[in-house]
Amino acid sequence: MTELKTISKIGIDIEKIRADFPILSRKVNGRSLIYFDNGATSQKPQAVIDALNNYYVHDNANIHRGVHTLSQEITVAYENSRAVIQKHLNADHSHEIIFTKGTTDSINLTASSFGKKFISKGDEIIISVMEHHSNILPWQVVCEEKGAILKVIPINDAGELMMDEYKKLLSNKTKIVAVAHISNTLGTINPIKEIIEAAHALNIPVLIDGAQAVPHIKVDMQALDCDFYCFSGHKLFGPTGVGILYGKEKWLNEMPPYQTGGGTIKTVTFEKTEYADLPLKFEAGTPDISGGIGLAAAIDYINKIGLDNIAAYEHKLLLHAAGELEKIEGLKIIGTAKEKASVISFIVDGLHPFDIGTILDQFGIAVRTGHHCTQPLAERYCIKGTVRASFAFYNTKHEIDEFITALKKTITMLK
Ligand SMILES: Cc1ncc(COP(=O)(O)O)c(C=O)c1O
Repeated sequence: MTELKTISKIGIDIEKIRADFPILSRKVNGRSLIYFDNGATSQKPQAVIDALNNYYVHDNANIHRGVHTLSQEITVAYENSRAVIQKHLNADHSHEIIFTKGTTDSINLTASSFGKKFISKGDEIIISVMEHHSNILPWQVVCEEKGAILKVIPINDAGELMMDEYKKLLSNKTKIVAVAHISNTLGTINPIKEIIEAAHALNIPVLIDGAQAVPHIKVDMQALDCDFYCFSGHKLFGPTGVGILYGKEKWLNEMPPYQTGGGTIKTVTFEKTEYADLPLKFEAGTPDISGGIGLAAAIDYINKIGLDNIAAYEHKLLLHAAGELEKIEGLKIIGTAKEKASVISFIVDGLHPFDIGTILDQFGIAVRTGHHCTQPLAERYCIKGTVRASFAFYNTKHEIDEFITALKKTITMLK
């Protein structure tokens, strides 16, 4: 009752929202599913499932190449999806929105293509210690290929970037800064505006890994003024296999194609190829057409709820969960930044995260265990991994209470 009152004040009708997600009514191990693994991937509302289904039932054709009705209709629908994403991100131009396979693909595209053109021996690339492997490895490859050097922004014990150290790392050798907007392991919301401004003062471009940010908060390309922003459809309540690279026109125009082939060209002879303009230059081969359309449907869906409502509601979930977890003896939350999204990692004295996750699953509760693709971060905390509970706007305070009860039972069983 209290929950419903609080929620209606925030503007979220939780019962209606939950009914939009068919999977939330399924049972796991005989219990009602409690899905707290949203950081790994989110669940899909019926509107997204319908968009995918409609595409295959009514609209299936290839884009950009046909004169027939189906091809023309789907080309318009696909390009409309790009426009939905452009509007959502408040990007200047729709050709700054490149469809990719996901965040990992977007970062690989940027690192490879930007690296080819702009990075040479002795140059430096700045990342942070809390990066997901997907925002480490592509830069490591560029460093190996070009003889460049990877510099790493340290964090304090709370899991916040040490901004003074960051500013000391910036120099005329720095060619790009690549950092997460929100840490998938710690939940820290990084001060990316300040990071971007400090880099831009030295004309250094900045890539933001927004994989964990777009499901929780509104992002605005013009307000942030970042040079590249990457995210995945599947974490944003959309389909797997599709993602976005936003890039400023001025960089994308100068960067060479990442992959080449059908769709990327103006003319081809055996002697020479003239590449297409943006965005097609970066979209080789037949894309995930239904994925792009499904992603736009997901964005339309969350915009109906409103990201401000989502952020306010999830913040309440976070505070409630953190408050309850802190009361459990021997439990330590990893990541206590002042600015946090609804992601909580924790360890329990003497227990392996994997064992905790396995027993929670018996209660129908899905959490993530392990290093969450942030091994250097785990090393920073001298731990092997954590249990991670990550909430979405369809989760409830009641589910958190069930989780806390199950966790206490789990700890008693394992000790
Ligand atoms: C911060 C961050 N970056 C990148 C990725 C990689 O995303 P994807 O596997 O969708 O490419 C993830 C996935 O967990 C992430 O959390």
